[in-house]
Amino acid sequence: MKALVLAGGTGSRLRPLTHTGAKQLVPVANKPILFYGIESLVEAGITDIGVIVGETEEEIHAALGDGARFGAAITYIRQQQPLGLAHAVLVAREFLGDDDFVMYLGDNFLVGGISALVARFAEERPDAGILLTRVARPREFGIAELGPDGGVLRLEEKPEEPRSDLALIGVYLFTPAVHEAVRAIGPSKRGELEITDALQWLIDQGRTVRPTVVSGYWKDTGNVDDLLEVNRSVLESVESGVEGAVDAASEIIGRVHIGEGARVVRSRIVGPALVGAHTTVTDSYVGPSTSIAGHCAIDNSEVEFSIVLDGSRIEGVGRIEASVIGRNVQVRRAGRTPRAHRLVLGDHSRVQIVP
Ligand code: G1P
Repeated sequence: MKALVLAGGTGSRLRPLTHTGAKQLVPVANKPILFYGIESLVEAGITDIGVIVGETEEEIHAALGDGARFGAAITYIRQQQPLGLAHAVLVAREFLGDDDFVMYLGDNFLVGGISALVARFAEERPDAGILLTRVARPREFGIAELGPDGGVLRLEEKPEEPRSDLALIGVYLFTPAVHEAVRAIGPSKRGELEITDALQWLIDQGRTVRPTVVSGYWKDTGNVDDLLEVNRSVLESVESGVEGAVDAASEIIGRVHIGEGARVVRSRIVGPALVGAHTTVTDSYVGPSTSIAGHCAIDNSEVEFSIVLDGSRIEGVGRIEASVIGRNVQVRRAGRTPRAHRLVLGDHSRVQIVP
């Protein structure tokens, strides 16, 4: 069995972070989302992994390398344009050969791994296997309608009038039957070759597409709210530990990991929280559900339920909540009059100011 991991796409809902980086590399609990997917494939015994890359190829390549650090062998497959998930399968035809494979969307986050699912699929070998979960906003996903016997009747990509609230999770199991399907379908309204349509084609041909409804934890981390929520949930199982230095005037409460070379001075950190390597926290409060990456400086500020990426500085600004702050960002108190907000923001930035 092989795997096809999709790490292309543009990540428009995570702008501005995705102007400068791949959406699959945005970290959750200080580790790129994509790594969790690769790890769960390896855990399920799948080590021959093709990674579909687009414009962010270089960055994805730099992060994953040849896969050895995960115990996998990675083959990179370039998709010249983001023309859909079924198009990715077309492009990967040579790599996939006639093997069964798991297709894993690199920005999906599935807790609990996929080992049991993969084992069952390998044993029973339906033509394809899909995972479904109930969602609150079915218009934003591929949606399945199940028959009275639990079989899939119909699949529809982002329907205006959803027939159910059962959404397709971005992890699919395929036999080589899918190759005929992806060749048979045409582009959707959004101009893409949809994997949902390829699955529907299989159903129409009388092939078996087996659904598994999961109630465990799944998120498509495509937007900021979901990203913060996944981060919150992963931090709940973070291992506590202090590798850096915490001075006597500081207080650490709950599950907190302080990275190597980090310094906590006259501050209070309430977990679950991460303070990355070589980050300094001075005269500040870091509250629950917060991941601060490496080489940051938090000074005279309060940060809670937030993600701060590498090399950023937050100084003297009071309280920051439910925020995602990119790399090498500076958020500072204005020193002089006039009392005015001074902003240098990239395209698609979002700022909320308390007047
Ligand atoms: C894709 C699929 C959709 C699925 C979703 C899960 O959507 O097309 O059927 O429900 O992933 O993350 P996209 O991320 O392309 O909007």
